[in-house]
Amino acid sequence: MADNSLAVEFAGIPFKNPFLLSSAPPTMDVRHILRAARLGWGGAVMKTVTEEPTVDPRTRLGVLRKNGKAIGMNNIELLSREPLKTWTDDWIPKIKREAPEDFVFVASMMSGPEPGGWTSLAETMSQTGADAIELNVSCPHGSPEKHMGAFIGQDPTLVEQVSRAAKKGTDLPILVKLTPNVTDIVPIAQAAAKGGADGLSAINTVESLIGVDVETATPLPIAYGVDKTEQLSTYGGYCGPAVRPIGLRVVSQIAKAIPDIPISGIGGIEDWMSSVEYLMVGARTLQVCTAAMWYGFSIIKTITEGIVKFMERKGYKTLDEMIGRALSKITTWTALSKLPPVVGRVIENRCTGCKECVGACADGGYVAIQMREGIAVINPEKCDGCGLCAVVCEYDAVAFVHTD
Ligand SMILES: Cc1cc2nc3c(=O)[nH]c(=O)nc-3n(C[C@H](O)[C@H](O)[C@H](O)COP(=O)(O)O)c2cc1C
Repeated sequence: MADNSLAVEFAGIPFKNPFLLSSAPPTMDVRHILRAARLGWGGAVMKTVTEEPTVDPRTRLGVLRKNGKAIGMNNIELLSREPLKTWTDDWIPKIKREAPEDFVFVASMMSGPEPGGWTSLAETMSQTGADAIELNVSCPHGSPEKHMGAFIGQDPTLVEQVSRAAKKGTDLPILVKLTPNVTDIVPIAQAAAKGGADGLSAINTVESLIGVDVETATPLPIAYGVDKTEQLSTYGGYCGPAVRPIGLRVVSQIAKAIPDIPISGIGGIEDWMSSVEYLMVGARTLQVCTAAMWYGFSIIKTITEGIVKFMERKGYKTLDEMIGRALSKITTWTALSKLPPVVGRVIENRCTGCKECVGACADGGYVAIQMREGIAVINPEKCDGCGLCAVVCEYDAVAFVHTD
């Protein structure tokens, strides 16, 4: 396979591969970004800056686990702790000097609902050597209280205004990073495009309350009130594999509604398969935060090797051949055939006889599964083809067959 099989063009910028670190702790400073650049990432979006540096609460990360394994993370962290000047005068020039030439550096910035702040930040950023600018109108915590972040990203009029204002201050491509915390993403995405956005990034985190410490009746993550002793918490942003279905839905809805605008897919990307999923629903580049935080920057190697192997197996020569390939198969519920002749069948050599599917089908389904000689057997007369047995089967031992 050609060396440049992962190359892709996004808003006029060539990428050697579609992977960027998203704006988050992995891009908090020059050291992190240069390390990622050397390990082969296609680019990075710096931790968002605004006019005032952030001071964060502690602790600020929470986790959702299943059988001990983290499946989702929530954070109440805000923006860059370093003043804008450190980025513009020191860090961005150093990154541009020392990172490989084909590494794409995206500046990330946030201002309030007044358009002037966006124009002036964009002017400042354009003088740094950055390759593009991402507008953060999507942070769901802290910022909305100050009429920033998702406060703007939930209002199409404001999204259009700030996109236009940022465009006014720069010739660089502008990406608008969208929040999933809206009823309908399409009018928001259209507003960004109308304001002149050259690309869209989706999604930022999903507003959440990750859990409660039931021993002390304290919501998580446990932070402290202003007296520094009272344990308190607040709503945060949810990310990681658990939010992937929301990211895929949002990206596909934008791609279907505005086919011409390039989309940078974000949300739970952690391996080659989740990457290909995002490409197939229309993303052209892919941003990663949680997986880089949990497993380190070197995951870029296994992810890119995995995609290349998949492309070889399927005969894809370029990413463009995969981008948007699943979109035409997303239709409306009304357009789906009702009760087609589809039933489940157990793949015998995978079935361990654990009986999970039997119990699930008895109480949550159509009482269609019985054990026979240690193997689950699905009665096609009773099976409704709902898919519950496959949901609870850890061994991928159920296939659905069309009986016509
Ligand atoms: C601790 C933390 C801090 C974040 N800070 C920012 C930020 O400053 N700006 C921004 O646009 N997104 C920020 N994000 C959101 C991520 O860039 C990303 O959109 C989100 O985590 C979903 O991707 P993931 O599932 O790969 O983590 C942050 C996420 C986390 C976990």
